[in-house]
Amino acid sequence: MNDFIFENGTKAYFGKHMVKTYLAGLLKNEGKTVMLAYGGGSIKKNGIYDEIMAELHKAGKDVVEFSGIMSNPTYEKVMEGASLARVKNVDFILAAGGGSVMDCCKAISLAARYDGDVWADFWAKKGTIDFPTIPLGIIMTVSGTGSEMNGGSVITNEALKVKGGFDYPQLNAKFALLDPLYTYSVSMKQMVSGSFDSLSHMMEIYFSLPNEDNVSDDITEALMRNVIRNLRAAIKNPEDYTARSNLVWDAAMAENRVIKMGKKTDFECHLMEHQVGAYTNCNHGAGLAVLHPVYYRHIYIYGLPKFVRFAREVWHVDDSGKTDEEIAREGIEKLADFIREIGLPATMRELGVKDKKELKEIAYSCGISPGCFKPDFSHEDILSIFEEAY
Ligand code: NZQ
Ligand code: ZN
Repeated sequence: MNDFIFENGTKAYFGKHMVKTYLAGLLKNEGKTVMLAYGGGSIKKNGIYDEIMAELHKAGKDVVEFSGIMSNPTYEKVMEGASLARVKNVDFILAAGGGSVMDCCKAISLAARYDGDVWADFWAKKGTIDFPTIPLGIIMTVSGTGSEMNGGSVITNEALKVKGGFDYPQLNAKFALLDPLYTYSVSMKQMVSGSFDSLSHMMEIYFSLPNEDNVSDDITEALMRNVIRNLRAAIKNPEDYTARSNLVWDAAMAENRVIKMGKKTDFECHLMEHQVGAYTNCNHGAGLAVLHPVYYRHIYIYGLPKFVRFAREVWHVDDSGKTDEEIAREGIEKLADFIREIGLPATMRELGVKDKKELKEIAYSCGISPGCFKPDFSHEDILSIFEEAY
């Protein structure tokens, strides 16, 4: 295994009624003014907003509301939130939502306490956060990204047509309340795409060096099987608590850094999807679903033993009388079948790319992951993946 230092500063509270049980107590020593940040209003329809407000009042807080955080949050929205946080002297940010709200809030907590060019210093390159940011708490309402337990903040800079972000441990929330019941009102489409996002994170960690025996690969196989099994169960019955609670913890486990330890990781599909998202504003999990099988058909031969293992351990491919290449390819086709089965898209056109000619510009705007099994993986490779997926 590679060397590593493990750190996760987020305390997770997992289970039913976490807001009612813990929120007021957790905020006791966090200052008077709390910014409650949320998205387009789902929390007002499903009652989560009322539950949170009751606890904030119980805790005697002055509440500043910041709403309208969109999916794929923009840098403009971050700056709007940072300016509000400064003007209102916000002591604590409470993010109630999914990855978009969480990511936007992490960025606000940094931007509100930084006088320089936040994008240039922390998003265009990896910067150093050596000053206190506004402390943050998270109330997860939709699972998938795992943002609730990491310091990642994926932001879209519309002017530059760039979507991205780094994992800054200083931006980890102090606490995350993970109540699987809160996810019941999430649409089927979002539940499926969020769960595929989790599966994607697991695969992108698994398909990277080292390949020799390591804890991460073993845990990750179990997590991949778990997310596949429980997503099927949740599609059948969205109010299956066992399934929904497994999906919530799967998402956190994939991105709380535990399974990344000792692994190089290859987040190339994310780097590609983020740029497709920057150009089309497509749904994150849907974008990943389009790209994964095509990417793997393109690179599997360079990581053959791992793809054989994936086919056997995750998809239970019957390997008798087959060559390694046949087994590996069958595993990838099982993944593609699963994507069709759960109703996610398979083409770039479905993501909103209207003209094949756009593909070149998007391809050349993507980052290149140093962890890819294929040596010298290039923008030409990305273009051919995009064309195949068109
Ligand atoms: O905005 P509202 O009205 O709340 O509706 C949201 C939104 O439309 C809705 N929703 C959330 N909770 C709900 C609910 N609807 C009904 N009931 C509830 N309980 O769900 C929709 C999608 O929400 P969003 O937060 O956009 O989705 P997701 O959690 O998939 O987050 C996507 C963003 O996270 C980034 C993605 O790139 C994308 O920008 N990611 C962040 C990562 C990280 N920080 O670690 C890693 C990921 O790879 C990803 O890149
Ligand atoms: Zn993701």
